[in-house]
Amino acid sequence: MKITIVGAGSIRFSLQIIGDIAKTPRLKGTTISLVDVHEERLNASYTLAKKYVEELEADLTFEKTKKLEEGIEGADFVINTALPYPNGHEDGFIKYDLITKIGEKHGYYRGIDTQELNMVSTYTYVLISYYDLKLALDIAQCIKKYAPSAWLLQTANPVFEITQFLSRNTDINVIGICHGFQGAYEVFNTLGLEPENVDWQVAGVNHGIFLNRFLYKGQNAYPLLDKWIEEEAYKWDSKSPWDLQLSPAAIDMYRFYGMLPIGDTCRNGTWKYNYNLETKKKWLGKFGGIDNEIERPRFHELLRMGRKRMIELAKELERDNNIELSKIWPEVFNKEKLSGEQHVHFINGITGGERVRLILNVPNKGVITKIPDDVVVEVPVWVDKNGIHYEKIEPDLTHRIKIFYLLPRILRMEWSLEGFLSRDKKVLEEILIRDPRTRSYEQVLEVLDEILSQDFNNELKEYLEKGKGIL
Ligand code: NAI
Repeated sequence: MKITIVGAGSIRFSLQIIGDIAKTPRLKGTTISLVDVHEERLNASYTLAKKYVEELEADLTFEKTKKLEEGIEGADFVINTALPYPNGHEDGFIKYDLITKIGEKHGYYRGIDTQELNMVSTYTYVLISYYDLKLALDIAQCIKKYAPSAWLLQTANPVFEITQFLSRNTDINVIGICHGFQGAYEVFNTLGLEPENVDWQVAGVNHGIFLNRFLYKGQNAYPLLDKWIEEEAYKWDSKSPWDLQLSPAAIDMYRFYGMLPIGDTCRNGTWKYNYNLETKKKWLGKFGGIDNEIERPRFHELLRMGRKRMIELAKELERDNNIELSKIWPEVFNKEKLSGEQHVHFINGITGGERVRLILNVPNKGVITKIPDDVVVEVPVWVDKNGIHYEKIEPDLTHRIKIFYLLPRILRMEWSLEGFLSRDKKVLEEILIRDPRTRSYEQVLEVLDEILSQDFNNELKEYLEKGKGIL
């Protein structure tokens, strides 16, 4: 078995996934190919991964390369965790922070990529995620040529747009994976429910899912949530900027939509919860969530420090191989527990290991009614050696979730892909014309012009100027 990780220097995924592979006895003997364009991060991941696996006493072989084709050739699974950066910017987030600032200068609070039902502005770079979609397409083309039966496990954001684009426009095997659904466990925990006695489902699109089924010991558990809201909700306070699952915004969305939003869905509400920092604090808790002018840059700084620590640790290891990673950084190099990510469960299940229930991003094929068949939805599925088997979504999502949340969010995805595919700048303009922050057409032209004239956006600018389709 060969598993390739593209974006192997990723702080949030590679080492955790490698740990899971090492802890899964059926995957003994697997070759892991690490691919990254950033040499220092690639080397650091390689050194750390080898040592971590040694500490876990697992039998895995490693390869590393900067070339996509080399890494993908002969792979059975390709995991894309890459966060590409334009023109020499070694930090993917520099571009997001700069673009956000330019947007704000032109009257777009949190930047033009912060959009209703998609408030996570770091995910749809300049409205069309050009760099992320382009890399995903390159990966898909390599898979088709060098590993045609491989599965691509799309993890890098925007998971919705990328998985949709690939599943509609290529014939490779692709699924989207996100860990946001784990917010459901936070709800069970807060209500004091043993997870093994909860019968639950979530359904929607990535970062837009709702708890459609919620039974405890066979009984409707929503009254338990209602009781908590009535008696306890007033005591709720966010423990961190990420802690939004039972925030006033989530409860307010629950009241309107009739089902509780789960995970990142609470971040992706409307402007009602997001007009400014003060509004955000009212609805999302004392930090105002993670997607604001204080917490976002702070989080990016934390990620930067984490990446730096990875590189320094790898250098230390080269000097002294006796350092025990699991002792000095147990959050990443955990010896006992699996990471909680779904990747390795999928790989194990589909290759004939344990049949497993996962929450994956796959084409709808009628599983959520009144949503187009080819739209990629996030739903519970069972995975075994015969493939991916959909669960019946029961009860169905409410009418309001579909008409006020899912269909408008799906349209945003369609607009974004239309911009990427047609290479027509007018599509970007039309998206912004429909933005409630826009006051004039001149404002739209000016903000796009300033963003596209940044040196680091040359490639994107040229891409849009050529105006011919990419496929
Ligand atoms: P990171 O910046 O730490 O790692 C990304 C790596 O990709 C870097 O080492 C970079 O050098 C590499 N890279 C950039 N361009 C590349 C290319 N052309 N080919 C190969 N490698 C390339 O990023 P982080 O924070 O680990 O996030 C990775 C991705 O995961 C992001 O898109 C993020 O939004 C996403 N994410 C997804 C979640 C999920 O549940 N699906 C949760 C959290 C983050």
